[in-house]
Amino acid sequence: MNLEQFKTDIDNGLNKESKTLPSKYFYDKKGDSLFVEIMNLPEYYLTRSEFEIFNLKSSELIKKLGLKTTTYFELIELGAGDGSKTIELLKPLVSKGFDFKYTPIDISANTLSVLENNIHAQLPTFKVDKLAGDYFNQLGRLKNTPHPKVILFLGSNIGNLTDEKSSLFLNEIARNLNSRDKLVLGLDLRKSKSIVLPAYNDSSGVTKAFNLNLLNRINTTLDANFNLNEFSHTAEYEEQEGVARSFILSKIKQEVRVNALGKAYQFDKGEKIHTEISRKYDDKILEDILTPTCFKIIGKLTDKKEFFADYILEKR
Ligand SMILES: C[S@@+](CC[C@H](N)C(=O)[O-])C[C@H]1O[C@@H](n2cnc3c(N)ncnc32)[C@H](O)[C@@H]1O
Repeated sequence: MNLEQFKTDIDNGLNKESKTLPSKYFYDKKGDSLFVEIMNLPEYYLTRSEFEIFNLKSSELIKKLGLKTTTYFELIELGAGDGSKTIELLKPLVSKGFDFKYTPIDISANTLSVLENNIHAQLPTFKVDKLAGDYFNQLGRLKNTPHPKVILFLGSNIGNLTDEKSSLFLNEIARNLNSRDKLVLGLDLRKSKSIVLPAYNDSSGVTKAFNLNLLNRINTTLDANFNLNEFSHTAEYEEQEGVARSFILSKIKQEVRVNALGKAYQFDKGEKIHTEISRKYDDKILEDILTPTCFKIIGKLTDKKEFFADYILEKR
């Protein structure tokens, strides 16, 4: 993590009229392991649904991607996490003798080690070419080789961006690809509030711990005095809009000092700090996002309940 950037981002977020903290800072060692716990929660249907697609439909995915055993390609994953779904794609690619390199990119070096160990346990001879860093900064590297590329961006991670920023981000990916390169974009589909909301506010409090860990990270990294007992967590979802929002909530009126910034921040009782959005999609929403980009949809795979979709996009 870039300390100066962290300081700037925290200060900017806490100075806003409606306070925010960037979700990319959730993922330190504790945050990584809490996210693995979230993925296993009964309420968190996203991982199970996308795992089902990779587990049951990898051969179909390989076919839709137009991959051939005779042509070397690069498989690059943005925000790879523990790689538990990707392994289901790697297994048939390896066993059928495809010639490829797998490069998972993640901001958390710790999570990349977990991923490497997970893959090693299931594919002992397969080499992972991991890359630690912010994928926004690493995209430029893609251009350095002429080989066909398949980018994976799973887990509906793009849903943490607004639609406008998603278009810009997708264009940034496209700018670093050649025509006919592919992107597999995992998207959580629109569905009822009764299913979506518990995924962001589970009954056992893991999501709350995950959110509040961000304050813990500010305490340890920037010598701050957030009292975690005086903050809580809440989530909102409007079906019509299709966006889930997560917040840290100040339980009381309080002041928090962040010594590394030489500043104090005031919080009102009930004041919310917005930490994350999680967009829910349908074909039309995705098509609108893709309009200003160089990507077109060439395929779509869903789980049986149609909770989740992996769209296959191709650069024009
Ligand atoms: C919600 S997890 C999802 C992991 C995985 N894609 C999945 O679907 O299970 C998000 C992952 O993206 C990583 N991440 C978040 N923001 C990032 C950024 N700007 N650059 C690189 N990695 C990032 C986190 O460290 C975390 O491992």
